[in-house]
Order: sequence, then structure tokens, then C-alpha cells
Amino acid sequence: MIGTADTPITITGLGCNVPERVVTNDELAQYVDTSDEWIRERTGIRERRIAAKEEALSDVALPAATAALAQAGLEGKDIDLLVVATVTPDMAFPSTAALLADRLGATDAAAYDLAAGCTGFVYAVAQAYGMIAGGLSRRALVVGGDLLSRILDWSDRSTLVLFGDGAGAVVLEAVEEPGFLGFELGADGGGGESLWLPGSGSRFFEEPDRYVKMNGREVFKFATRVLVQSAEAVLERCGLTIDDVDVYVPHQANVRIIDYATKRLGVPSEKVVVNVDRYGNTSSGSIPLALADAEKDGLLQPGSLVLMTGMGAGLTWGSALIRWSVS
Ligand code: ACO
Repeated sequence: MIGTADTPITITGLGCNVPERVVTNDELAQYVDTSDEWIRERTGIRERRIAAKEEALSDVALPAATAALAQAGLEGKDIDLLVVATVTPDMAFPSTAALLADRLGATDAAAYDLAAGCTGFVYAVAQAYGMIAGGLSRRALVVGGDLLSRILDWSDRSTLVLFGDGAGAVVLEAVEEPGFLGFELGADGGGGESLWLPGSGSRFFEEPDRYVKMNGREVFKFATRVLVQSAEAVLERCGLTIDDVDVYVPHQANVRIIDYATKRLGVPSEKVVVNVDRYGNTSSGSIPLALADAEKDGLLQPGSLVLMTGMGAGLTWGSALIRWSVS
């Protein structure tokens, strides 16, 4: 799916939250045969946050959602749509969105979860955009977050070292000036087995698995390809080039993947947001957490052209282009 965003709708609030516990590479080396040196060289990750046993996604997402609403000058009751992008909801049902809506006092909101792997946040933002543009919603809250630590095999070094827990949230509203400019979203279920959680749904497996399985090399190839293709496609559709982009927010999976895409696209490093070193891959939380870091670092100025591109399980990918307006 690709298109320009012709109704002026933008992000008016942004918030993020990560669990308190920091887990370093050295700590992981106590559980599996790995080392700080290997992890930093191959992924760029130094540490990640891991949720406490009693925390579920809604607990980690609540402060992010509250902060986003506060920045937009809104309360829970003011929103009429709440989408939570995640592959690790509190439970299959009720949805984390419904639980979160209750805690936020969002009594007038339609609330549901959306699963598109690490691309979930970009998908959910595009969907909220469409709901507002179509006249169904006036103000939407989109949360992206995951507690991937819950579905990792803590004895599998090939996946354990890559992921972390965290969440971010944005408020979308109709405005006067253009905010979002365009979206490109895609999926290739044929490649789904490169990154999957077999046995987690209605498909029967002889030997079901509770943990993420991944073909790292395949995912690496896929990621470097789609990050470039998706970004170029949405820019072209919007009549812009990579030189017009002020801030590039790629999915934070691996510094090597980000470096590859950045070089291929021709984005100077000072425009690229990287926080995978501190959080690892937080799946649906990755892009909003990176946006929040970019805001904290003063990168997001009114008028900045921001390109976000996600990719992940599905396999899925997606880009969003936005002219930033929150100051
Ligand atoms: N510590 C030490 N050694 C390890 C570890 C580890 N944590 N993991 C693997 N190795 C070993 C392997 O066993 C292998 O050993 P061998 O040569 O004796 O067989 C060696 O390191 C090299 O393994 P490779 O898989 O070739 O290493 P590579 O350079 O490809 O890096 C990695 C692996 C980091 C997983 C890389 O392929 C990658 O980043 N892939 C993409 C993963 C990803 O981003 N997934 C999620 C994206 S989508 C989403 O966000 C949901």
C-alpha cells in the first residue's frame, strides 16, 4: 500500500517509557555463551531494559500514553481511538488497548491491538491517520510497545542478545498545516518463517514453541533491502528526495542494519537517530522510543521532515513521512 496523505493530520503529543531494570551484555554472558565484545561488534547493543516480573505491557505503556496525552494538552476522555501495536499484549484478550483505555479514562474510545511485528507502530499510525482522515475519529492515541523478553528463550544466544522491552505513544489530531505527507506499507507472509513464534495461535504444531525463532542472516538481508526500498518509495510518491529529509528514524534492530541502510540511502549520520545501543530492539516500541530520544536531543524542530521506516515479523515493513510540528 502506498499513498500520499492529503488531509492535514499530525502528531501533537509524544511520550515513551522503559522498565527500570538495565541488563548489560555482561549480565547476559552469565546466562548464555556470549560476550560484550561479540554483541557490540555484531549489533551495536550495549544494554537493554527488561520488565519486572509483575509488569505487563499495559503497565509499561501507561506512562508513555499519559506523557503523550499531556504534551497534546489532552486527557484520556478526549480521545476516541486507541490502537496498541504489539506482539506481546498483556494477554490475547481483553486487548491491551482496552485495558489501557480503562486506565486512562478513555471511555469514548474504540480500542484494539494491532500485530505487525516490529512494523506495528508505523502500521498503527497509518491506520489512525486513515480513521481521522475518513472522519471516524477526531483524536487518536497510538501506542507501540513490546515486552519481547517474555517470548525469548533465555538459553538461546542468537535471539536473547538482540531484544529489549519498552513502549512509546503518540497522539494524532487534525490540524491546519500538513503533518503526515505519505505512507508505504507492505507484507510478505512467504518469508514469515524467518522470524516467528510457532505454536502461539490456532495452527497446530507437533512440537509447539513458546519462544521466538529467527533466521538471523535471512532477516538481516530482508531488513537491509526493505529499509532502503520502502524509504525510497514513499519519498518518490511524495515528490521528495532523501536530501529533503532532516531526521531519519529507522527501526532499531541492529547498528549494522542501520549503517547499511543509511549509507545506501545517502543520509548523513547526524540526521540518523540511533538508540539501539541503550535499548536493543524493542519491536513495536522501537520507532516511538527513537522519536522521543530525537525530541529530547532537539532534533525534532517545527518544520523538520521526519522519515520513519520499520520492518519486522510478518515479514512486514512500512514508512511514514511527516512534517514535524510539535515544538
Ligand atoms: N554470542 C556469540 N556468538 C554468537 C551469538 C552470540 N550472541 N549469536 C550467534 N553467535 C555465533 C554463531 O553461532 C556463529 O558461530 P559459528 O560461526 O561457529 O557458526 C557466529 O556467531 C556468526 O553467526 P552469524 O549468524 O553469521 O552472525 P551475524 O554476523 O550474521 O550476526 C545477527 C548475527 C546479529 C543475529 C545478525 O544476523 C542480525 O542482526 N540479523 C538480523 C536480526 C534482527 O534484526 N532481527 C529482528 C529484526 S525484525 C524485528 O525487529 C522483529
